[in-house]
Amino acid sequence: METSSWTTEAWGKVHEKVTRTSTRIGARFPHASVDGSYVLEAPHWWTAGFWPGLLWLLYRDSESKDERYKEIAEACEQQLDDVLFGFDKLDHDIGFMWSLTSVARYKLLGDEQSRKRALLAASVLSGRFNVKGNYIRAWNPWGEGDRNEGWAIIDCMMNLPLLYFASETTNDPRFKHLAMEHADTVLEHFIRTDGSVNHIVVFHPLTGEFESVNGGQGFAPNSAWSRGAAWAIYGMALSYRYTGELKYLDAAKRVAHFFLAQLPEDSVPHWDFRLPTGVERYRDSSAGACAACGLLEIARAVPSEEAGLYQAAGERILRSLYENYGAWDNEAEEGLILHGTSHYPERRNIDVPLIYGDYFFVEGLARLRGNSATFW
Ligand code: GLY
Repeated sequence: METSSWTTEAWGKVHEKVTRTSTRIGARFPHASVDGSYVLEAPHWWTAGFWPGLLWLLYRDSESKDERYKEIAEACEQQLDDVLFGFDKLDHDIGFMWSLTSVARYKLLGDEQSRKRALLAASVLSGRFNVKGNYIRAWNPWGEGDRNEGWAIIDCMMNLPLLYFASETTNDPRFKHLAMEHADTVLEHFIRTDGSVNHIVVFHPLTGEFESVNGGQGFAPNSAWSRGAAWAIYGMALSYRYTGELKYLDAAKRVAHFFLAQLPEDSVPHWDFRLPTGVERYRDSSAGACAACGLLEIARAVPSEEAGLYQAAGERILRSLYENYGAWDNEAEEGLILHGTSHYPERRNIDVPLIYGDYFFVEGLARLRGNSATFW
């Protein structure tokens, strides 16, 4: 089947399903679908942007311009104000949250209030930058006595576009400078020579010196968490889009080659590419969907003679997700894409649909249908 045929069919199925699920989910914050229903999280949870982001994609690229999708996305954004002004639950994931809500709305509708929310969020993200180690701090302490001021994580690559956006919209390069410093730290300390990536790198928060690598959501410090690789592929490719610095594109390609070489026959990754015998090899469809968007982004960035490899690989993953992982005809399932793995080491949300898997699948589809503009 040609690209345009299967993507048209898939777009229709996504619409059909989201028309139905949006009635129950409404302006709330789904994360993982358990026993067929999306579990709803508090607005401060890092995944809060993906559902409104998905609705904005459908609104943007569908002739019908479903006003209900717009209303829900706007109502989600509004609810994030308590989080933004409450401050203390904000961490590095600010980019995931406000790129897909406020930046999306500003890019689509020019809403000035949304632009200001995005700028405020970018300012808070900038405030997490540690000038000694040149990294954006990841989480806040989870409990009394926790010390994680020196932690930086690969996921943060996807939060940098909020800073690039802030620089573009204000003509002030400071945000972009910080984003590039962080990206350079990732080049030095996260991306390994074989193209696999570390999840967590710990720096001394006072001196900035490298201290250690932590396995985080991967199996072990030296394993290869597939979603971490996906964050690196797409995040580095977007850093190239905003800066024109070839070192970021080269890094995206290096991780992409590693990622593609590890894929099983159906092109959808296991949750970690370096698992010892005996550990369950669950898939992480969300890693596949995010990596596919990164591959399609690389395809638009490289010279045309190189583009085919990345374009074909991105399409292959998305098509397999559609044909082999889609819950299209299962009315008892709210998720679009089955078999995501959120956090294996903590045994949370394993082998279930994840809202970010759904989001990146729809973004990838939108790209294959010809719209490579992003909210990132
Ligand atoms: N950013 C958290 C995750 O990838 O699960």
